[in-house]
Amino acid sequence: MSLMIAAPAHIPVLVKETLEALAVQPGGRYIDCTLGAGGHAAAILDKSSPGGQLLGIDADPEAIKVAAAKLETYGDKALLINDNFANLEAISIKYDFFPVHGILFDLGLSSLHLNGNSRGFSFQHDAPLDMRFSPSQEVTAADIINTYSESELAHLIFTYGEEASSRRIARYIVKKRPIESTLQLSLAIEQAVGGRRGRIHPATRTFQALRIAVNRELEHLEVALKQAINLLGFEGRVVVISYHSLEDRIVKQFMRQESRGDNPRLRLINKKVITPSETEVQLNPRSRSAKLRAAERITDRREQYVLAERYSFSEGIEAGGWRRPGLLKKLRRTFAAL
Ligand SMILES: C[S@@+](CC[C@H](N)C(=O)[O-])C[C@H]1O[C@@H](n2cnc3c(N)ncnc32)[C@H](O)[C@@H]1O
Repeated sequence: MSLMIAAPAHIPVLVKETLEALAVQPGGRYIDCTLGAGGHAAAILDKSSPGGQLLGIDADPEAIKVAAAKLETYGDKALLINDNFANLEAISIKYDFFPVHGILFDLGLSSLHLNGNSRGFSFQHDAPLDMRFSPSQEVTAADIINTYSESELAHLIFTYGEEASSRRIARYIVKKRPIESTLQLSLAIEQAVGGRRGRIHPATRTFQALRIAVNRELEHLEVALKQAINLLGFEGRVVVISYHSLEDRIVKQFMRQESRGDNPRLRLINKKVITPSETEVQLNPRSRSAKLRAAERITDRREQYVLAERYSFSEGIEAGGWRRPGLLKKLRRTFAAL
């Protein structure tokens, strides 16, 4: 008997908590900015049925293929777009998909990238040093490793990897160049730090740093969060799951800043960050470092009216799914005559 060993599928993280934080309701309209294998998207479409719609975005065309197969049964309720979420606002406008009830970011890599993928995201498999989410991006990890100066490499590894031995690692990388594969790079790092010590592999932080730089992950996150606010309808929610402190810091500061001052645009849903239960971590070790933050759009009454009128053309209202259907009537009485 032959045994086929399939790569483990991507298990979505904090699903119940995400649905709660997004307050998913029948007839609602949602954007999943990081579609991946479509796990969260399927859960959102199930919970928002009947009438729910989802716009799914992923920079990786492979992820779009996998998600399209998974979401096939939802037909035209799921619109999947291969693009970077840094273009979130333009995409939503192009497809007339706003305002929305909720926007999700489940950041970083999916298991599709780690399990047997040949794009060099993992030091567990030997592969060319690529690390691009999308083949349309120009700069690969090999370009950075082989062309940056020693001090530029040290800075990158320190800033994006929070790696204490960044200078030593950069010195070794420059000494061993050209470096074209994940194995060559992880060996150079092991030599730089004097072999393996402790629980985490010595290449972990450098690989994280490279991936963040290649995909300009932090810049794109900052840009997309700002755009997300503009797309949220009243009481619309933005939910972000992050997997390392650099991302989480950006999300935390953004939500804090937008929820303070004279004209706050967001209200924090959870003051304390939400993390997975011990059971979830046991079942899905990748969830270990996950941190979920959520906030709700605050709008003044005039903005609410404009948005509510837009919603009245969407299936949300028709399906009776809007969280406060009486509000539209009230807003109409106040503003329609103005
Ligand atoms: C953690 S996975 C998402 C998994 C997904 N929630 C699921 O349930 O299967 C993150 C995904 O976001 C994508 N991604 C990361 N940064 C992106 C960006 N700036 N624009 C678009 N997609 C991005 C990656 O290609 C990856 O497929």
